[in-house]
Amino acid sequence: MSRAHILGVGHYVPTKVVTNDDLAKIMPTTHEWIEQRSGIRERRFIEESGIGASDLAVPASKMALERAGLTEKDIDAIIFATLSPDVNFPGSGCYLGHKLGLPGVPALDVRNQCSGFLYGLSIADAWVRAGVYENILLVGSEVHSTGVEFTERGRAVAVLFGDGAGAAVIGRARDDGKGIHTCRLHADGAGAEELWLPAPASRNIPRLTPEMMEQGLHYPQMNGKAVFRAAVENMTAVSRKVLEDAGLEMKDVDLFVPHQANKRINQFVAAALDLPDDKVVHNIERYGNTTAATIPIGLSESFAEGRLDDATVLMAAFGSGFTWAGAVVKF
Ligand code: UT7
Repeated sequence: MSRAHILGVGHYVPTKVVTNDDLAKIMPTTHEWIEQRSGIRERRFIEESGIGASDLAVPASKMALERAGLTEKDIDAIIFATLSPDVNFPGSGCYLGHKLGLPGVPALDVRNQCSGFLYGLSIADAWVRAGVYENILLVGSEVHSTGVEFTERGRAVAVLFGDGAGAAVIGRARDDGKGIHTCRLHADGAGAEELWLPAPASRNIPRLTPEMMEQGLHYPQMNGKAVFRAAVENMTAVSRKVLEDAGLEMKDVDLFVPHQANKRINQFVAAALDLPDDKVVHNIERYGNTTAATIPIGLSESFAEGRLDDATVLMAAFGSGFTWAGAVVKF
């Protein structure tokens, strides 16, 4: 059976740059604290109200299609990974299909947070290999800036996140040996409430009260240290496993494109894997954590720099759920 492959990658970030010093003007934080703990120097925020994850996904998708040598009409399925959909329902994939002029094309939203792009990649890989769909548009896109709390209570989370989108077109591999070699997905709900957004919740009557809002339960809650530790441990383990599945060794890896949650997490993972820093993609300093978008943005920028040419690329992600995942793709 022939492999599926990533035929083109693209990305888009809003034009509004928000530096650490800009954040320090609106809440008690400093550039030094943010930079030293996370590596982040600036992030992008949507310019005005009304711009959703599907809007950021449009230019990212067009770039991916153009680089794949395809057009919107070639897309027969959409997979949209996001934890910040335009509205609570329907999914952002439906909005994106409409904005790209694709009536009737199926659209699946994936709710796997920071691992969403790799979960989507695994689904697209299986669909293409099984002959269900030919060219799948896979998007990771987030608008976080409207959903975090810019106060002392929310600062540990608010400084980390940014808005942005990345896209990939998945279709049949055009060359032998190239393509998606392995994907591995994991989840463990024992960690669900280490990083979560408790309200509104359909299990509560009512779903949202003024008291919940006073407590800030409509903002993400995170046990940063527990998430940090679990991220290092699981991204390292899944990276080793997907390489082993592919029959490869760490020295065969040309480029490591990890999820960008914290530069220090990725430095610990790379050190544990014995990967030199020049093989590791870092862009968190410019975009912060864009959750489902970090890996496709990293791929898209690497493509533009020529770093994907004939490269064996390792990817790994970890986040809320807990969910984590890895993949090996030969370009
Ligand atoms: O993609 C999803 C996954 N998310 C992650 O992977 C995030 C993983 N976790 C982390 O990256 C780190 O835990 C953080 C960067 C979020 C926090 O770093 P930390 O070293 O765990 O800091 P902390 O939360 O223990 O806070 C240390 C201190 C506290 O003050 P006290 O109690 O020591 O006086 C905080 O109140 O830093 C304070 N603090 C801040 N100070 C300035 C927390 N946030 C800020 C802030 N600016 N933004």
